[in-house]
Amino acid sequence: GLAKLRMRLYEMNRETARYYHGILLSPQGSAGMEYFARRGLSPKTISRFGLGYAPPDRFSLVDYLRKKGFSEQEMIQGNVAFASRSGRAIDRFHERVMFPIIDLRGNVIAFGGRILGQGEPKYLNTSDTPVFSKGRSLFALNFAKEHAQPYLILCEGYMDVIALHQAGFPNAVAGLGTALTPEQARLIAHYTKEVVASYDADAAGQKAASRSIPLLREAGLTVRILVVPDGKDPDEFIRSHGESGHARFQQLLDSCGNDVEYRLTKLKQEIHVQTPEGKVRYLNEACGVLAALDSELEREVYAGKLAEEAGVQRTAVLQQVRRLLEKKQ
Ligand code: GTP
Ligand code: MN
Ligand code: MN
Ligand code: MN
Ligand code: MN
Repeated sequence: GLAKLRMRLYEMNRETARYYHGILLSPQGSAGMEYFARRGLSPKTISRFGLGYAPPDRFSLVDYLRKKGFSEQEMIQGNVAFASRSGRAIDRFHERVMFPIIDLRGNVIAFGGRILGQGEPKYLNTSDTPVFSKGRSLFALNFAKEHAQPYLILCEGYMDVIALHQAGFPNAVAGLGTALTPEQARLIAHYTKEVVASYDADAAGQKAASRSIPLLREAGLTVRILVVPDGKDPDEFIRSHGESGHARFQQLLDSCGNDVEYRLTKLKQEIHVQTPEGKVRYLNEACGVLAALDSELEREVYAGKLAEEAGVQRTAVLQQVRRLLEKKQ
């Protein structure tokens, strides 16, 4: 039955993680070890996250798992291998550093594999299997759940999370390369009331941050947005600051604004507010942001701030917000 299959896949994934980790630590894994060293990971971090290396061979994992008593069918169902045209199982991951994905009970449920150099895809992940649903999992939540107060840090990538944990932020988690899902937002809300989204500073990351805001809000979370300076992602930022990486990132955490402030700041960057027309357009769009808030109190607070900053009457802002609200109904 399904329960039995799932048990088998958990066991097989654990063996797979053990295999890749063992290879990484062996002479065969030197390319992977050099890669992680170049990216600043300590041996302690490598062992805590159970990182590994998938060798270039086509059948190395398949041969190993067969000796451990797993069938090729199980390997294919678990997506650690794929079927050749003749039906034979072939390793899914080759010449990649491996990131095991672990669920809240400590089961290995999937893998992410990163190519060492240039090439596509940069990351190859396990497809959904009977034990893995990528839209319902968060990388490193198994560690971060113990540190979820007062907030979790949500970032984009495996390496961001690992760099943050290594730098003393064990409350970091990441999605698995796809847009945040409502299930993931609810999962975060199960462990904390507040989340700091720290996406990449590039256009793609900022777009993803904007899209995740309503989902996180709907899950009942207080949302703050940390924009990493200089177009970096959290990993690059931490590494570029060396010994003071922790202190510098902590400053960003302490000073970053909430989601409403973030959206207003972004509007202001996009619109040329120096002209009267630009200022009107900015105020109109900003009122749109306020009208989307679902609490009267929040609307009042930000209307006051917006009016003060733009040098207009607070009542004018509130009137416009109310007009937009009436239009919505
Ligand atoms: P590094 O280059 O290793 O620092 O990765 P990154 O995390 O900075 O990469 P990027 O910002 O491009 O992507 C963020 C996350 O999206 C990654 O950690 C992956 O989970 C996912 N991702 C990136 N590239 C790919 C890809 O080619 N395929 C898939 N499936 N996911 C990807
Ligand atoms: Mn990418
Ligand atoms: Mn990116
Ligand atoms: Mn990135
Ligand atoms: Mn990166």
